[in-house]
Formats: sequence, C-alpha cells, structure tokens
Amino acid sequence: MASLLLAVTFLLSGASVVDAEAAIMSNSGGGGAGATLTSRGRFLQAAVAASTMMTQSALFSLDSYGARGDGERDDTHALAQAWSAACASRRPAVVLVPADRSYLLKQVTLSGPCKSSITFMVKGTLVASPDRSSWNENNRRHWIVVRGVDGLAVGGGGTIDGNGEVWWKNSCKFNRALALSFHTCNNLRVDGLKMVNSQQIHVSVEDCTGVQVAHLSITAPGTSPNTDGIHVTRSRNVQVRDCIIKTGDDCMSIEDGTHDLHVTRLVCGPGHGISIGSLGDGDSRAEVSGIFVDTVQLHGTTNGARIKTWQGGSGYAKNIVFQNMAMDGVKNPIIIDQSYCDSSKPCKAQGSAVEVSNVVFKNIRGTTISKDAITLNCSKNHPCFDIALQDINLTMVGGHGGAASTCQNAKWRESGTVIPQPCIGN
Ligand SMILES: *[C@@H]1O[C@H](CO)[C@@H](O)[C@H](O)[C@H]1NC(C)=O
Ligand SMILES: *[C@@H]1O[C@H](CO)[C@@H](O)[C@H](O)[C@H]1NC(C)=O
Repeated sequence: MASLLLAVTFLLSGASVVDAEAAIMSNSGGGGAGATLTSRGRFLQAAVAASTMMTQSALFSLDSYGARGDGERDDTHALAQAWSAACASRRPAVVLVPADRSYLLKQVTLSGPCKSSITFMVKGTLVASPDRSSWNENNRRHWIVVRGVDGLAVGGGGTIDGNGEVWWKNSCKFNRALALSFHTCNNLRVDGLKMVNSQQIHVSVEDCTGVQVAHLSITAPGTSPNTDGIHVTRSRNVQVRDCIIKTGDDCMSIEDGTHDLHVTRLVCGPGHGISIGSLGDGDSRAEVSGIFVDTVQLHGTTNGARIKTWQGGSGYAKNIVFQNMAMDGVKNPIIIDQSYCDSSKPCKAQGSAVEVSNVVFKNIRGTTISKDAITLNCSKNHPCFDIALQDINLTMVGGHGGAASTCQNAKWRESGTVIPQPCIGN
C-alpha cells in the first residue's frame, strides 16, 4: 500500500521511469555528489521500484471522467463513472481526486464488490453540494457511502468538506447526512485525510471487519449539532489511531455490535469525548465488548471516558479499558450512566438495562470543570460490576474546591491512588 501510494505520487510528479533510471545511473557514477544527491538517488530508487508496481495498477482520475473541479459544478457523475471503471478493473485500481482542486458532490454511493483492490486517493477536496433541494427527500441520511468493498484503502491527504453550515441551522436533528460512511467493507484502511464540517457524523464504520483508521484530522465548530468524529457500529477488529478530532459531538461514538476495537493516540476537543453508547435505546438489545482506549488527550470536552445506556435496553457492554488519558477542563471525566435519556419526553424508569461490567479506568489525570469527576450511575436491577479505578487524579480546574465522585448501584474496586476518593459524594 505504501509503495503504491508512492508510485502514484511519483507518476503525478510528471517524471517518467526512464528519467528516474537515468538519474540513478548518473548519481551512482558521479563521485562527490554529497548528501543531497545520495538521498535523491535513494528516493528515485524507491520510486522506480514503486513504478514497477505501478505498471500493474490502473489510474482512474476524476478529471478523465469529465470532472470540472471548480467547486461549483456538479462532479458526482464523474466520480461515479471513475469508480465504476476502477471497480471493473482487473488490475489494482487507483481512483484519484486530483490535488489543488475542489470537486462538488451530491449524494453518491460507491459500491463493490470490485474485481481488484481499490485505492481511493483524495489529494484535492471533495465538497458537499450546499443545495439541499438536490438531495433525495426520502433519504438525506448519507452523503458519500462506500458499500461492500473489500480491501479498500482511502487516503491521499486531501479534504472532505461536508459544507455542514447550511444543514446545522436549518434541519432537524435526524434529517442530516453522515459525511463518509463505510458499510460492509472488510479489510478497510482509511489513512491521512482532513474532514471538515460534516452535516452530521464525519466518518461512520458499519458492519465492517478488519478496519484501520489513522491520521485523520476532523474539524467542525464546537457548537455544531451531532457532528461526531468517528462512529463505529456492528464492526469487529477495528483500530483507530493518531487522529485529531475537534467537533460538536462525540469524538468517537462506539455503538451496538462493536467488538475488539483498539483506539490509541487521539486528541479530542471540543466535543463530547469518547462514548460507548448510547446503547439500548427503544428497548433494544446491544452488545459491545473488547474496547481498549489508550493514550487520549481531551481538551474542554463535556465528557471524557463515558459509557451511556438507556433504561429498558438489554445486552451488555463489557471488557472495556480506558487508560492513559489526560483531561483538560473536562466536565464529566469518568462517567457510566445507565439512565441516559436524550429524548424530548422524559424517559420513564424501567427495570431492564444493558449490563455494564469489567471496565477499567486506569491512569486518568487532569482537570474537571464540574465537581462530577467520577460518576458511576448504574441501574438498580442491573448494577454495574467489576469496575476498576486505578491511579486517577482529577482536580477542579484552577483549584476551585474539590472534585467529587458519586456512585449508585456500582460494584467497584480501587487500586493505586484515586483522587477524588471514589463514591463518597452525595
Ligand atoms: C443517575 O440516575 C438517576 C436515575 O437512576 C437519575 O435520576 C440521575 O439524574 C442520574 N444522575 C446523574 C448525575 O447522571
Ligand atoms: C494530583 O494533581 C494535582 C494537580 O495537578 C497535584 O497537585 C497533586 O500533587 C496530584 N496528586 C497526586 C497524588 O499525584
């Protein structure tokens, strides 16, 4: 994959393989060329090796399919055509969004299965049409959907701009699109993209197995509604690492059917922090297990490490670790809430609940802006159990009074030093 990317970069630079070979030959012959030439020679050698691979892959640029790239005229058709051609290619294919230009897109679905592996390389900008009337009245839930593509790699360092401003102010909460969603994509890699101002969730991974997400920069205003950074549901064996996420909702939302998710080196905020849930809404069953969140900074988020479930649900959230987290002015740094309610009507108390167990909060430090540093608010009928608090130090921002910890129906244990003292508030 890395060499394929290099191959394309090289190809786009306009040099030919012959030039590269000639350059290497002359470099190796000429003494006293110094460090510059040596490193240039090395680069070219790599490029040649890569171009050899490149001869085996085919390039499908939007520009070859009639795209204008002016950010104003609709390029949806060009992308759809480039995708179809790439997907039918017997050789590994690269779908290219060329650099330094902006391609306006309406709703589009990029479907598989494809004959060979595809790299979707976004070097320029994909921007959502601001014209809401051009969206399907009956389904505004998605903007760019990738469906049923195995072995897909998405990257290129370009930008995906949801143009969300027009949606945030006008439409109601459930009538906006997820910017980039992947459905039933196995062995997916998304690496190196900027995402800005999604209409709603920025990146959504649904029904996928074997996913690696890395080096994303996701940005939307802290006041923008429901603009989660990365959303994962019904997916297994997922890794998310090295992302910077500043939005108006969850940095990551981890929902029903997520198993074996490893999140590391994230910087979040503004936003709502890292959330498992909400789970069990509408009396549904939810199952989440094997979630490992490690090395996260949260700046000014409303929550830090959170598990939230609705009353009336069933199923479980278990085998979860939140560790090595730095909180900076977070409202609820550690929170399990089994009576989550986000509906306009008050939620009525119900007996059943999604069971929460085997959760470790370890090495979590920093500041909180509310007294609620550690909240374990669990259900009477299904208490949380096996909750470990280890090496925690959360203090009020600016030293304004002591932080506190409140608990209901939680079976917890403590190790190392835990500040504030767990479960003595109220
Ligand atoms: C805790 O749960 C109860 C219901 O059991 C709810 O009324 C209360 O608001 C919750 N407290 C917090 C801090 O979330
Ligand atoms: C907890 O953090 C506060 C503020 O950073 C610091 O002054 C204090 O020494 C820490 N306590 C422990 C036990 O580490």
